[in-house]
Amino acid sequence: MQPEIVQVEDLQFEIYIKEDEIQERIKQIAIELDKSLLDGNPLFLGVLNGSFVFMADLVRACKMDLELKFIRLKSYEGTTSSGTIISEDKHSLDFKDRNVVIVEDIIDSGLTMSWLLEKIFSSGAKSIKVVSLLLKPDSLKHKVQLDYVGFEIPNNFVVGYGLDYNGKGRNLRNIYTLKG
Ligand code: IMP
Ligand code: MG
Repeated sequence: MQPEIVQVEDLQFEIYIKEDEIQERIKQIAIELDKSLLDGNPLFLGVLNGSFVFMADLVRACKMDLELKFIRLKSYEGTTSSGTIISEDKHSLDFKDRNVVIVEDIIDSGLTMSWLLEKIFSSGAKSIKVVSLLLKPDSLKHKVQLDYVGFEIPNNFVVGYGLDYNGKGRNLRNIYTLKG
């Protein structure tokens, strides 16, 4: 168990989604993925850094044969989206004939996902599925494909379970929301 209230840098956060709830939801998503992707040799593609914890739990909850890799994208500075996407490794975007499962920690404006979907689609992927642990529906500005969503949350900044505030808080086991 971890505390109800945490301090991350200059901000206070309160507990919002407990680790047991997260794990329970991941089990359900894995069951659905196993049903729909069996025998497709899917490539799970995690968006770094935020998705590393979710990816680790999700792939271990899945029974199918799968491969995985990570890509590093960035659109956030502090607690707001910077509006541009930076990919640190353009050469890792070749998905010809692959069944790709994009694994994201959170979809906020949808900018990152719409950018990534376009790149993967135009690189010749056979199919694409999108899994995001969190979604902020009120914040969506770009049209994105969403196949599996863990939790829909209000438009508040969250940390923990891979998500950071200025690089900190990723190792918290629960998800916390900005206090007040
Ligand atoms: P989008 O491009 O606006 O959808 O932003 C998506 C990315 O911004 C996510 O992959 C996260 O890395 C980051 N992000 C969005 N909302 C939050 C939040 O509440 N906490 C931490 N990171 C966030
Ligand atoms: Mg992310």
